[in-house]
Amino acid sequence: PRPILLTRHGESRDNVRGRIGGDTVLSEKGEVYAKKLSNFVEKRLKNERAASIWTSTLQRTILTANQIGGFPKIQWRALDEINAGVCDGMTYEEIKKNMPDEYESRKKDKLRYRYPRGESYLDVIQRLEPVIIELERQRAPVVVVSHQAVLRALYAYFADRPLKEIPHIEMPLHTIIEIQMGVTGVQEKRYKLMD
Ligand code: G3H
Repeated sequence: PRPILLTRHGESRDNVRGRIGGDTVLSEKGEVYAKKLSNFVEKRLKNERAASIWTSTLQRTILTANQIGGFPKIQWRALDEINAGVCDGMTYEEIKKNMPDEYESRKKDKLRYRYPRGESYLDVIQRLEPVIIELERQRAPVVVVSHQAVLRALYAYFADRPLKEIPHIEMPLHTIIEIQMGVTGVQEKRYKLMD
């Protein structure tokens, strides 16, 4: 069995400010995670010469993977965070205050709610299909550095979690979820590298 390692990007400047979306760089803490992640991956995948690192096209995942040496890196647009459309760059407080109807609709049905000019979780799940097909085809380990909403969907696929749970799955920062696909099913390990 070969592992798939899932991780969110290190804490970003927008995470610190509570802003969703955007394309900011890492906070100082996020930089520390990038270093810890590279140490972990280089050790964990030491003799796995065919392994690869997949990121989104957004700076915060590329910078998080930057220091990992020895493996090819591939950027997937399909791994970009859920597109928050007109709400991109806002805090949840601002959405609640300025667009209360949107806020309420999302709260009611987070799976199906689509941001105006953006995406829903169902949209994200759909665009992940080619990524999943490629992940299934790989024989070597893959490290996926992506975003909260996207990783919820990917994780749910491998862990066989129901669709309706996806938007609510806990997906902490600075934690690696290792998934092993064997003949007897899927096994999971978690490594919390820092707070
Ligand atoms: O910026 C988007 C968030 O990572 C997704 O979180 O779907 O819980 O609002 P949410």
